[in-house]
Amino acid sequence: MVRLQNSLPPPSARDDDMPLKKVFVKTYGCQMNVYDSERMIEALAPVGYEHTDAIEQADVIVLNTCHIREKAAEKVYSELGRIRQVKADRLTEGKRTTVAVAGCVAQAEGQEILDRAAVVDIVIGPQSYQQLPGLIFEAETQARKILKLDFPERDKFQDLPKRAGPRQASAFLTVQEGCDKFCTFCVVPYTRGMEFSRPVADVLHEARALVAGGVRELTLLGQNVNAYHGEGSNGKAVSLARLLAELAEIDGLERLRYTTSHPNDMTDDLIAAHRDNPKLMPYLHLPFQAGADRILAGMNRKHTASSYRLLIDRIRAARPDIALSTDIIVGFPGETENEFGETLRMVEDIGFAQAYSFKYSPRPGTPAAMLEDQIAEEVQSERLQRLQALLEVQQSRFNASCVGLVLPVLFERPGRDNGQLVGRSPYLQAVHATAAETLLGGIHEVEISVANRHSLTGIVRPAFA
Ligand code: 5AD
Ligand code: SF4
Repeated sequence: MVRLQNSLPPPSARDDDMPLKKVFVKTYGCQMNVYDSERMIEALAPVGYEHTDAIEQADVIVLNTCHIREKAAEKVYSELGRIRQVKADRLTEGKRTTVAVAGCVAQAEGQEILDRAAVVDIVIGPQSYQQLPGLIFEAETQARKILKLDFPERDKFQDLPKRAGPRQASAFLTVQEGCDKFCTFCVVPYTRGMEFSRPVADVLHEARALVAGGVRELTLLGQNVNAYHGEGSNGKAVSLARLLAELAEIDGLERLRYTTSHPNDMTDDLIAAHRDNPKLMPYLHLPFQAGADRILAGMNRKHTASSYRLLIDRIRAARPDIALSTDIIVGFPGETENEFGETLRMVEDIGFAQAYSFKYSPRPGTPAAMLEDQIAEEVQSERLQRLQALLEVQQSRFNASCVGLVLPVLFERPGRDNGQLVGRSPYLQAVHATAAETLLGGIHEVEISVANRHSLTGIVRPAFA
């Protein structure tokens, strides 16, 4: 008879002599999910799990899913089909595997996942990750399926382990989750729930721990990060600009970024921070989604094309060299050729250093999915191609404008070629340069010599030249 070896200790007790178990996490979607995956791995460490990249060695497999666009749920089901084989192979070796589906597909599909995919043991929504160790224990000892989709009162971050230890030069830090905006195309308000901001003290505590571990750059994350209104030390709500000012006081922290923002939450103090906070990098991701006011109204965006343009003028007045990035959707229900033309015109007028563009895809349960005049796929694809061609030209132009400049680059990792490092410019471009490994984790001046389509190449300036 096959003996099952994979049984967890109760969540609080870890015997130091106990062999490590392994957890494999596959992450889909946004940076918030990347952050959440890291935190799940950290939550499992105290109960004896180490992270592995080899799925067939994993005692626990987590799929951290995204539901924002196209057929996300179908991708998860086909991945689960592959995992069924992995689980079966491991079982013939006497090893048990616990499979958890986390993230927004878990939240949106819930019980349906357990019904459709017998391989799954746990379905867990984004607000419950602190309970993962206990749920794995429960699934294994009681051999039952678990569905955990609460939006608990208590903030999940309070119960996740505090972050420590040596880390990379640049890290994400989630400060806000959820969204109250209800754009008609978007699932986020349903999968991530209402807006929630972490208290300032918690964010500062986590930031200090990261900096002590070697982090030089923090990107603050939130689905609507500039709506941040976390509780400050006097019990009153604090704005994102104020939070950035407090973070800027941490010695050793050199760079701050935040993403993703809504135009209507670009408050005066946040715009001023782009002028006054020297650690805030000159880069802003600010989705406008569509260029025609009728479509923006149908999307419930609550801004117009001209209010977005005026906002960009004010941001550029505060920080003239700011690199702008955006999100754009083509083929929203009812979008005419002329209305799509207004999207192109917006891109031409503003000029983006970078952008993400998508074909509209109906998300079940969202208001726009119910609209009648859905746009044919071929029309969407053709529009997307035209838009992306324009965005490529703009990105190349922006990169070319950097040739000859000396930019401070935070080196984050070794490059593909021997002796090469890769880092980021203040404008978030990837920069490749020949450099000693000792420069990793630090900011160094690089003279930009070549602009590639999606990156730059340069030469490190000698420190005392
Ligand atoms: N279809 C296409 N794109 C979408 N996005 C969000 N929902 C949809 C959808 N249903 C895009 C938006 C958003 C980005 C994260 O994903 O542009 O800003
Ligand atoms: Fe979705 Fe962003 Fe709109 Fe919120 S503001 S509903 S997260 S697109």
